Amino acid sequence: MRASAFLAVLATCLPPFSPVAATTYNLVKEHAGSTFFDDWTFYDHFDNLTNGDTIFVSASVAASSKLAFVDPTTNHAVIKVDNTSTVPFNEKRNTVRITSNDRYGVGSVWVADMLHVPYGCSVWPAWWSQSPNWPTGGEIDTFEGVNLMTHNQMGLHTLPGCTVVNPSQASSSSQQSTDCSHLSNNNQGCIVSDGNTASYGQAFAAAGGGVFVTEFAASGISIWFFPRASVPNSVTSNTKAVDTSSLGTPVGNWPSTGCPMDKFFEPQNLIFDITLCGDFAAAPSIFPQTCSGKCYTDYVIGNGSNYATAYFEVASVRIYSSDSPNNVVDGGTNTTSGNGATQTGTAKNDAAAMKYDTRALRLSLVLGGVALLFI
Ligand SMILES: *[C@@H]1O[C@H](CO)[C@@H](O)[C@H](O)[C@H]1NC(C)=O
Ligand SMILES: *[C@@H]1O[C@H](CO)[C@@H](O)[C@H](O)[C@H]1NC(C)=O
Ligand SMILES: *[C@@H]1O[C@H](CO)[C@@H](O)[C@H](O)[C@H]1NC(C)=O
Ligand SMILES: *[C@@H]1O[C@H](CO)[C@@H](O)[C@H](O)[C@H]1NC(C)=O
Repeated sequence: MRASAFLAVLATCLPPFSPVAATTYNLVKEHAGSTFFDDWTFYDHFDNLTNGDTIFVSASVAASSKLAFVDPTTNHAVIKVDNTSTVPFNEKRNTVRITSNDRYGVGSVWVADMLHVPYGCSVWPAWWSQSPNWPTGGEIDTFEGVNLMTHNQMGLHTLPGCTVVNPSQASSSSQQSTDCSHLSNNNQGCIVSDGNTASYGQAFAAAGGGVFVTEFAASGISIWFFPRASVPNSVTSNTKAVDTSSLGTPVGNWPSTGCPMDKFFEPQNLIFDITLCGDFAAAPSIFPQTCSGKCYTDYVIGNGSNYATAYFEVASVRIYSSDSPNNVVDGGTNTTSGNGATQTGTAKNDAAAMKYDTRALRLSLVLGGVALLFI
């Protein structure tokens, strides 16, 4: 009796469930080396999402024209804009957009180790995620930049009601907007700019690249960026698990207090894409900030010599889960290694993922009036 009385006392002191968020996540998926491009779906259509002057090629065209390949000397994946074809006026340039077949729910972390990110006038790359059920299931932009911008821009896009309240993020970060609703400010989202110039462009490459960590937790969303020289030992020494409590203060933070995760987010498909011009890079208020001339006629057409820096070089993408495998939604298997691409399984979410693109909507809202002029 005494023992149970003691346990009863103890029980009253402890909450029934620990309210402390899990900070340790275990590896559930790795994209690296010769199998990097397995289990992604290539968009295989012109850019009808963000109005870029590009064609997102199929897996087989990407492989044969070396727009998506694993460099055998470095073992790194390269995702790039075609910089060897001459594109005549009125035509689009080839590039790549890939979406992970699997989706990752609350209780996930994705870690992308990159050596180079695309930049240059007219170039608009992103490493991001969204739910196929957008905007209901939300969008997380870990890395995005345009033209010769000098800082990475991070952000969320959601249904109305998600806002940034008391973020715990680096003081060098600059909070651009706090309303994540796709209906506010022309779907600008709740945006944070990284204070570190090594987070984008030429300075990113010069620093040897770095590691982006995205935590999608019940307590909120956090993004860390570490230039090569400051990647924490806990990340480099153990690829099987990530303890986000060891990473220090994130550069971007969206606590669940202002944005309950279960209300605004659903499992996310991870996406790499590079487009040219389009709604963001070519926007009349954006392009002249860092580039001169006309986005399409002065850069996209011609011999492609503008695009020698328009590529991602990725050492690995690893996805971790605190709740394996319950928060991983299996989207089927594709194999692109070997002789061209073979396709097995079903990527059930991909058709839906194409239906909505927050950035497309953002563009059409912002530029609806301008677009009419061109029709
Ligand atoms: C992946 O598989 C899906 C479903 O079979 C297919 O629609 C898609 O084109 C494939 N993507 C590749 C190989 O890029
Ligand atoms: C883009 O094109 C694809 C393929 O034709 C189509 O399924 C999709 O609905 C289009 N998306 C938009 C936003 O127009
Ligand atoms: C490519 O085009 C640019 C601009 O017209 C020109 O300056 C450059 O010499 C060309 N490069 C080659 C290899 O033809
Ligand atoms: C094309 O881009 C690659 C980098 O992806 C670069 O090494 C190469 O020199 C470029 N080619 C031309 C013709 O500019």
